[in-house]
Amino acid sequence: MLTKAKIRHHILFCTGNKCLGKGGEEMKILAQNIVDATPELSSLLVSKTGCVNMCESGPMVLLYPEGYWFSDMTEGRTKLLLESIRENREAPLPGNVAFVLTPHER
Ligand code: FES
Repeated sequence: MLTKAKIRHHILFCTGNKCLGKGGEEMKILAQNIVDATPELSSLLVSKTGCVNMCESGPMVLLYPEGYWFSDMTEGRTKLLLESIRENREAPLPGNVAFVLTPHER
C-alpha cells in the first residue's frame, strides 16, 4: 500500500467523456499495471480525474508536482512518460506538453 509519505509524483488520467472515448481509461489501467510491476515507480500515485476542460486536445494526462499537462496521449506516450519518471529525467516527454502550471498559477 502506498503511504502519503512515499508519494513523490501523481499522474492523473482524464476519464471525462471525451478522453474516455479516446482511450483514457485504458491508459490509466496500463499505467497502474506498469507501476505495480516496477519497484522504481513505487512512489508514483496513479489516478483518474474528470474532465479538465481541454477535451479537443485529449486524451489529457497531468503530472504533479511538476505541473505538466500532456495532450494527445497514447499508450506509447504513457509508457515513455513512466520510463522518464523512473529515470528521473527533467523533461519527461517533450513534444506534447500542452502547458506547465507554474507555482504562481497553482
Ligand atoms: S474529457 Fe478530458 S479534457 Fe474533457
